[in-house]
Amino acid sequence: MIIAVDGPTASGKGTIARALAAHFGLPHLDTGLLYRAVGQQVARHGGDPDVAADALAATAFDDALLADPALRSETVGALASRVSVHPAVRDALLQRQRDFAAQPGGAVLDGRDIATVIVPNADAKLFVTASLAARSLRRYLEMKARGEDVGRAAIEADLAARDARDTERAVAPLARADGAALLDTSSLPIAAAIASAIALIEKQTRS
Ligand code: C5P
Repeated sequence: MIIAVDGPTASGKGTIARALAAHFGLPHLDTGLLYRAVGQQVARHGGDPDVAADALAATAFDDALLADPALRSETVGALASRVSVHPAVRDALLQRQRDFAAQPGGAVLDGRDIATVIVPNADAKLFVTASLAARSLRRYLEMKARGEDVGRAAIEADLAARDARDTERAVAPLARADGAALLDTSSLPIAAAIASAIALIEKQTRS
């Protein structure tokens, strides 16, 4: 069973995808980490994330890098959003994601273009979203808990910029795929969001 989960930053899709993987006993790939690894490598090598050739050169990273907690930072997230607009970067990461999805028994993948580009034939598709206000509040509280004191307005502006880049790019923009179930987590506690996600996936795989 292949489950595709897409949605914008801080919508809850990562937490939901991990919970789905645990519930259905499937391996999980957070595809955002691949773009984050590219963004981090470009910066480390002094490249320009907006230059396609620099970003493409950074796709040859070692898989061990994916476990680096530094990839989760807001700075690396913003770099990821910039390198991900280059079609050559997306092509270079495509097969890795399809191979993960094709493993025996299936997999859960989350990202922006999983159901539209990576595995359009997925058995179940979920589009997780939430209002900009709800997502920026979540991100603000997460960062505050980590001791990072960034203002709410700055976080909201950063998320809005990332949303714009992700939805307006020419190749593989963030979009709800045909047949993807919609889950709006704006006013849902995480346990309720996970329960809804499981129910939506079960409904799709039954029919
Ligand atoms: O999901 P996450 O916040 O880790 O993703 C970081 C950035 O990587 C996103 O803002 C998006 O631009 C890009 N991305 C993408 N396609 C994916 C996953 C992430 O373009 N499948």
